[in-house]
Amino acid sequence: MKKQIRILAIESSCDETAAAVVEDGRKILSNIISSQIAIHTIYGGVVPEIASRKHLEHIDEVILRALREADCVWDEIDAIAVTHGPGLVGALLVGVSEAKALAYALGKPLIGVNHIEGHVAANYLSDPGWEPPFLCLVISGGHTHLAIVEDYGINRILGQTRDDAAGEAFDKVARAIGLGYPGGPKLQKAAMEGDPAAIHFPRPCLDEEGYDFSFSGLKSAVLNYLNQQEMMHRPVNAADVAASFQQAVVDVLVGKTMQAARDYHLDKIALAGGVSANLAIRGAMEEACRQNGYRLSVPEFILCTDNAAMIGSAAYYQFLNHDLSDLSLNAVPDL
Ligand code: KG4
Ligand code: ZN
Repeated sequence: MKKQIRILAIESSCDETAAAVVEDGRKILSNIISSQIAIHTIYGGVVPEIASRKHLEHIDEVILRALREADCVWDEIDAIAVTHGPGLVGALLVGVSEAKALAYALGKPLIGVNHIEGHVAANYLSDPGWEPPFLCLVISGGHTHLAIVEDYGINRILGQTRDDAAGEAFDKVARAIGLGYPGGPKLQKAAMEGDPAAIHFPRPCLDEEGYDFSFSGLKSAVLNYLNQQEMMHRPVNAADVAASFQQAVVDVLVGKTMQAARDYHLDKIALAGGVSANLAIRGAMEEACRQNGYRLSVPEFILCTDNAAMIGSAAYYQFLNHDLSDLSLNAVPDL
């Protein structure tokens, strides 16, 4: 019988300190996430220096919990994986240093993983039968692009944002209407009480050829609307603004994804990244896929936002390809 491969994975690229044990890239044995939301909320956003300090404080305990919950001892771990970029450099360095120390002390292979590859791999955990090739819409706080995942870890980028990422737009608009951090989930909640047709905001790039995105113009349109209302002493209905903005984002993301699926004759579509936790986006994408007869994979909520299980899954396929790292592995903020 083939020996199972168990990978201990570490993720510390932003504001979650996370560790997980994943078996054969598909089975989560443990998935521990220590969130820093409470502390960053005080400052209205992620403070990089605080993020690094908190990672340092929690990383050992998070890793030990991941091992305990997986009911594993170190001998049963085949490799150590870690996110080495993109992300906040100080935050990444905590995970990378920890992983290198563990790999060296235990004499186990080290696997540096691209955080975005991890987000894509979340689909392999949520749906054990999900395999490349497929079209993937990556929507996170720092990235927005459409790619064909041709094989594990092999992506052909069709288009990407020319300015802000989708999550960044959610966060900035949330702040502008007074919702604070973390913007995405708070804006989604506000939007549930609002009318998505109340205000017409632009749908950037939707009628253009190609698969690029742009969200900074949409964000500016929201800011202009807020300024106009203030100048004319008219009240702002934050729920309507949230719902109308969210609808514009949904229309662009779904429209571009369907266009790419049609053009490239792909009938399997996956979502990846924190913004794919958004209920309006999930719902609209499900409906569009149903109408067109496409299969859709959406990671369960806990696997959409940052976690280490997704890093353990991506690392497994690198392990099979002998795509390992050595102890010179470094944090690469703009990987
Ligand atoms: O993937 P992620 O956890 O971290 C990065 O790799 O960037 O994504 C974080 C982003 C943030 O911008 C956050 O506001 C957004 O995902 N987000 C959401 C929702 N949950 C998280 N945006 C919209 N609706 C949500 N429910
Ligand atoms: Zn992420």
